[in-house]
Amino acid sequence: MRRDAAANLWAHFEPAGSEGRSPSTVVGSHLDSVPEGGRFDGALGVLCAVEAVDAILDAGARFRRPVEIVAWADEEGARFGIGLFGSCAAFGRLPDRALERRDRDGVSIAEALRALGERGDATTARRDPKELAAYIEPHIEQGPRLADRGLPLGLVSDIVGILHGRVTVGGRADHAGATTMTARADALAGASEMVLAIEALAKGRGDAVGTVGEIAVRPGAKNVVPGECVFSLDLRAARGLDDLVRDVRAAIRRIGDARRVTSSIDVLANVPAAPLDAGMRDLMRRAAKSVGVDAPELVSGAGHDAMNAQLAGVPTGMLFIRSTGGSHTPRESATVDDAALAADALAFALRELAC
Ligand code: GLV
Ligand code: MN
Ligand code: MN
Repeated sequence: MRRDAAANLWAHFEPAGSEGRSPSTVVGSHLDSVPEGGRFDGALGVLCAVEAVDAILDAGARFRRPVEIVAWADEEGARFGIGLFGSCAAFGRLPDRALERRDRDGVSIAEALRALGERGDATTARRDPKELAAYIEPHIEQGPRLADRGLPLGLVSDIVGILHGRVTVGGRADHAGATTMTARADALAGASEMVLAIEALAKGRGDAVGTVGEIAVRPGAKNVVPGECVFSLDLRAARGLDDLVRDVRAAIRRIGDARRVTSSIDVLANVPAAPLDAGMRDLMRRAAKSVGVDAPELVSGAGHDAMNAQLAGVPTGMLFIRSTGGSHTPRESATVDDAALAADALAFALRELAC
């Protein structure tokens, strides 16, 4: 096992007696979570990967091509704001100046990596996509569609496009008692109107979603008119993300002008929608079939490291495992039986690709 410069963990299984290097089949997911998150989003996919490789080797089978298990670092971006961090580093998609991003305590990504014993430059974790023959990510579904249909497994057809940003609204801090209502530039009141506009714009277009999940107010006292407000922006859509982003930008500007507060949007990630490889979809379908499941094709509204692999040109497949209780909450759940089916299906796919 090795840890790369972006803190991704890799376990490499070299085929016996191979000559030269042929591209690897990579399978895995992530181990990090969100604040007050669940135990399955990410981690179950890594465990299924370990179980599938273990089952193949235990059965005495040999890999004819290299196989790697990966646990991507900081998929959620909960600490530094950059989601899919490890796979962005591996596939050359880190946003500009990513390593200078700081957490709430002022620690930068570069510093956090150095504290782990790395050199602090995650960009050197980049891999040549030609080294990878295929990538498979097993993951809980995180929604109710499989449970509603009474099916344990599904396969992913597309992953939605995602924009992550941070909006800074600048007003003027002032005395809450002595400043009349007409003389204020209240950053939080402006931000509140922007949040409602984001909700309305996303509601107005099909499958799009828009979420503001974090907000901070400065100076943050009950008797001070808010002088600055910073909130997160999460916009997603399978189609038409650019139009939604354009409309949200315009609404933020319009509301800011009307309220005499400034606004700026810092884009942390802008990942286009990723249709997954047709051949890998077919393989995921056959893998599910091998364990007796007619797996439906589902669009993923959640982002996954699989997007970066596919966008880099690595043929990518995702297997969804039925989950209940929602996701990004401690209520999220999946059964051992469903996880075992997923590991068996994965082993089928790995045998086909690498044995
Ligand atoms: C990851 O879980 C995401 O979709 O943000
Ligand atoms: Mn997640
Ligand atoms: Mn996840």
